[in-house]
Amino acid sequence: MSIKEEILKLKEENDICILAHCYQNPEILEVADFVGDSFALAVEAEKVQNKNVIMCGVRFMAETVKILSPDKTVYLSNKNAGCPMAEMMDKALITEVKKQFPDYMVVAYINTTSDLKTVCDVCVTSSSAQKIVSKLDTDKILFIPDCNLGDYISKQIPDKEFKLLNGGCPTHARIEPEDVQKAKEAHPNALFLVHPECKPAVVELADYVGSTTGIMNFAKESDHDEFIIGTENNIAVHLSNECPEKKFYTVTDTFVCPNMRYTTLENVLECCKGEGEQIELDEETRVGAKRCIDRMIELG
Ligand code: 13P
Ligand code: SF4
Repeated sequence: MSIKEEILKLKEENDICILAHCYQNPEILEVADFVGDSFALAVEAEKVQNKNVIMCGVRFMAETVKILSPDKTVYLSNKNAGCPMAEMMDKALITEVKKQFPDYMVVAYINTTSDLKTVCDVCVTSSSAQKIVSKLDTDKILFIPDCNLGDYISKQIPDKEFKLLNGGCPTHARIEPEDVQKAKEAHPNALFLVHPECKPAVVELADYVGSTTGIMNFAKESDHDEFIIGTENNIAVHLSNECPEKKFYTVTDTFVCPNMRYTTLENVLECCKGEGEQIELDEETRVGAKRCIDRMIELG
């Protein structure tokens, strides 16, 4: 039996749901019950009925499942898969920053630790941020940790006042406008689709700005047939597999999130056998973080 067949068999036998972020490798997507962006995964995490859930993604995503489903056994596909952005700001830092801006509402990108979420007011994802921030009953927003996403959202909602901190995704922040110009020169007929975690000067060059699934849906539905994909290179891989009649180009070979690539089919099989890392959260942290996620799902 192949690893894939073994996973599919154990998934049925052991009442397991496999969730995968769309940055995962193609073979992981093939065994997943649900593939999506951060917001879709959070919504799915709340609905899932199975006793066991394997999150193929990074740690904060597995924590989100556990926060919403404390009675389920939740596995992180690979114990080393963290998100550097989620781990760059902690509760102590933000507690201090809040003292400087006491009348600001703290809006946390979902790429944050559960512990940090306990001192924030609401979570957002790249696909839900604009809608949620618009609906908030305040015009003073302290947006953490991604200053690039924060900058993009602040431009979409100019009537609100934003305070940003100097955090972000090292993978997206690596891309420079010159890289995009080179890709555009090589593919002059292609539309440039970008994730708002990229630098503002990169986002300015885009024909479309959106989350990972936003980018995928735009490319699939567009009449255009050539695209430069301004996010993790696996999105270009998935789109090429799904739309073989269209052409998808990467910006650079280095647009890769190492943490998202750690998960292998062997890791997933291990979790299916009950041998992977199980997420544990103390109840105080879980309930404190849940407040922010519930609010996100309610407003999103
Ligand atoms: P989305 O899935 O919300 O597009 O976010 C991308 C990302 O970097 C997840 O870690
Ligand atoms: Fe974190 Fe960036 Fe990797 Fe997403 S792509 S998991 S934000 S480091």
